[in-house]
Amino acid sequence: MSSSSTLNDWMAIVAVEDLPKLGARVFQTPVGPIAIFRVESDQIFAVLDSCPHKGGPLSQGIVHGKSVTCPLHAWNIQLEDGCAQAPDEGCVKTFTTDIQEGMVCFKRSELQSHA
Ligand code: FES
Repeated sequence: MSSSSTLNDWMAIVAVEDLPKLGARVFQTPVGPIAIFRVESDQIFAVLDSCPHKGGPLSQGIVHGKSVTCPLHAWNIQLEDGCAQAPDEGCVKTFTTDIQEGMVCFKRSELQSHA
């Protein structure tokens, strides 16, 4: 039996102030590269850095509102749910984040590879 504590499940990754406003930084994790976005309102969103279309680097796209436009073929991906805006279809994996003492924290369990 394994017991898991959710209380200590958070892992600090980067300071919010180190994220460019309307931009993103990429972090390599066991589950792949994760792009952490900071939008105009200073909200933070994290998605896999791989467009649901053909894997374009979303971290290099243009952020507007709570969406990012993929640099390859200009699909608009909603950062809250990771899904492409119609008429395009598909979703990229999103990650839960929390801000603790100015640091963006991820859930450890979400960063573990299930391979
Ligand atoms: S790979 Fe992102 S729009 Fe084509």
